[in-house]
Amino acid sequence: MTIDALIVGAGFSGSVIARLLAENTKAKILVIDSRDHIGGNCYDYVNQYGIRVSKYGAHLFHTKRQDVWDFISSYGTWEPWEHKVLAKIYPRDGCDESVHVPVPVCIQTIQQLYDPSIETEEDMRRWLAEETKNVINAGPFKNSMESAVARFGRRIYNDFFRNYTWKQWNKYPEHLDSSVLERIPLRYDRDDRYFTDPIQMLPSCGYTQVFDQLLDHPQIEIKLGTDYFLERHCFNGVQFTVFTGPIDGYFASYGLDRLEYRSLHFEDFNINVEQNDAVVQPASVVNEPSMRVPYTRTVEFKQFLNQRSPYSTLVREYSSSFGEPYYPVPNDQNLELYSKYQQLAVKETGKERRNVQFLGRLANYKYLNMDQAIGNALDHWQQWKTEGFLKEMLA
Ligand code: FAD
Ligand code: NA
Repeated sequence: MTIDALIVGAGFSGSVIARLLAENTKAKILVIDSRDHIGGNCYDYVNQYGIRVSKYGAHLFHTKRQDVWDFISSYGTWEPWEHKVLAKIYPRDGCDESVHVPVPVCIQTIQQLYDPSIETEEDMRRWLAEETKNVINAGPFKNSMESAVARFGRRIYNDFFRNYTWKQWNKYPEHLDSSVLERIPLRYDRDDRYFTDPIQMLPSCGYTQVFDQLLDHPQIEIKLGTDYFLERHCFNGVQFTVFTGPIDGYFASYGLDRLEYRSLHFEDFNINVEQNDAVVQPASVVNEPSMRVPYTRTVEFKQFLNQRSPYSTLVREYSSSFGEPYYPVPNDQNLELYSKYQQLAVKETGKERRNVQFLGRLANYKYLNMDQAIGNALDHWQQWKTEGFLKEMLA
């Protein structure tokens, strides 16, 4: 078929745009992905034990945006799910005894770990004031150690953040911009949910089904195992391209440095727990802030939507500097480099008769939650319509 629009990447950014184009224009759309599956990093599948596993790490949908939910909820089937996370803490140095406490830090966390008498929000504020009384507690903070200690005090900082940050970023908080740990929530109440957004959902039959339905349209064709960088010469005649892959790959021939990313490695293992409803951990996700183990967290997938199986599949996550790009490293150097790529992108987008739009977490070098990726695609669609450059296809 002749193609009017090429979408590079079948994650949320690319799939939402493909759907909007298909429903609102006459365009023939080709979606390509270098991987052998749709869904981008949200891809999941059912393993040999009947447990749904996310290939690239656990994904919990949460949003404040009603328009995002209105849009995505009509694909797949969804059910409410409030995510909770426990952190495994070793309260005494050199002692193997551990406790599992809620994160983000809330009243129960303090009760279980430091002071059982903390009951109310006032207690919590008083306790934190005491913890932080001998530290620098007015900004601007020079780094993430200062910003975290100012809010949490040294004990929580050491138990929860210092080593965890090292494992995640290969840097201690004193060498990271203050904004990194400033984003960590702190609760003065008993809300031990991981997210507080009003809409918190999981797809009952997995994310992959959501993508199947998003892309199921007579104007959309999908080609998997197709790397744009290897086959871009085939698409020179396409009048409109939405690129959701890595921006530094798109402009690789310009000789700029590559953008820095943190990557993840996954180690999974299966345990015969004999009972359909038996689980191994006290929560679906257990964070590991101590240096006693090298991984950052362990996910027990069976616990999401209370799946039944005589086995349990657990996945440990290791953070590393090598491998597929997952998390941008937002320091001054990388952001400056990204702005150079951004300038190239602006030029490329403006080229006559060759509209290329750069969308999504890899093309914008920005961590996006799923709802942000979907919302971004919806917002861009509105903007393109207003700008009118889709007129020919909209005809
Ligand atoms: P992606 O999903 O990465 O899709 C981009 C696609 O482009 C990929 O499929 C890739 O293969 C393809 N591609 C790249 N280069 C090429 C090329 N050259 N040719 C062809 N195809 C190419 N969000 C939440 O809201 N809740 C969570 O709990 C959550 N957990 C997460 C956990 C982890 C470990 C990670 C890394 C992310 C998590 N996210 C979560 C974020 C979520 O994964 C993103 O919001 C989402 O993946 C963004 O979609 P995207 O389409 O922009 O990018
Ligand atoms: Na997550």
